Amino acid sequence: MPLDPGDALLTDRVAVVTGAAVGIGEAIAVALARFGAHVAICDRDVPNLDTTADAVEAAGRRVVAAELDVRDGDGVAGFLDVVHENLGAVDVLVNNAGGGFQQSFLDVSANGQDALVRENFGSVTHFVRGVAPRMPRPPQGGSIINVTSIEAHRAAPGYAVYSAMKAAVANLTKTLALELGDRAVRVNCIAPDVIPTPGIGLDLEADSPIGRVGHVDDVAGAAIFLASDLSRFVTGTTLHVDGGNLAAAGWRRAPDGGFAAGLDG
Ligand SMILES: NC(=O)c1ccc[n+]([C@@H]2O[C@H](COP(=O)([O-])OP(=O)(O)OC[C@H]3O[C@@H](n4cnc5c(N)ncnc54)[C@H](O)[C@@H]3O)[C@@H](O)[C@H]2O)c1
Repeated sequence: MPLDPGDALLTDRVAVVTGAAVGIGEAIAVALARFGAHVAICDRDVPNLDTTADAVEAAGRRVVAAELDVRDGDGVAGFLDVVHENLGAVDVLVNNAGGGFQQSFLDVSANGQDALVRENFGSVTHFVRGVAPRMPRPPQGGSIINVTSIEAHRAAPGYAVYSAMKAAVANLTKTLALELGDRAVRVNCIAPDVIPTPGIGLDLEADSPIGRVGHVDDVAGAAIFLASDLSRFVTGTTLHVDGGNLAAAGWRRAPDGGFAAGLDG
């Protein structure tokens, strides 16, 4: 099967993106539309979600936009019914909504932990259970993309529960790749780092091996690849969009352009 440039396109596919009001989710939603998909978006930030919806329509694609807290399982089911009625079967699901707060593990309250688990793990399970059974039958199938983090792959002091839940999603992704394989549903992760967004901050240090911070569109590029037929044999894995930070494992680019490890680097 020789590759065709059109394999990168998503013409008339239907995509769902969670947390699409700002940041990485916004960039992914707009990129999916520009590559041809109709896009359903949700967020609890309605004013910014409306701006994303306008951008999808400006790309000439249909949009369904809804206020939703992704931790609310019944709300997710209701949203997906509306998406199905308006746009048809979902080809691409991007579980992007997530986040956390900095606090030592011993200080995290039961309520705080519950919120982190529901936000970063429960939301993914709600959407996968709601979308996967209604994805197109093989051979077409579908693509599920879970946005995790570099923190799923290393220690994260001050973010213990958040990072543990991202690691849980990374592991769930592998199991789902097997369980959904016979439906031709591929399941992968994108693990970002140092992407300036309203959530992580817009003023990040540019000391990644690649010599700059990332951009939300760097993550969108990975999402287009994983959503499209270009990645037709890719499932159960993680694409690290982090400028090389995971590979560096503590090595930092020094002002002289070389590398140094450790605190005095
Ligand atoms: N920016 C980075 O460098 C980075 C690094 C690692 C992981 N991530 C992950 O990427 C994803 C997007 O991050 P971002 O930096 O764009 O964050 P962001 O905070 O800028 O945007 C997140 C969006 O999701 C929405 N959202 C959050 N919780 C929600 C909920 N419960 N219900 C509905 N909407 C909700 C927010 O309103 C916001 O619009 C997250 O899963 C985050 O953990 C980002």
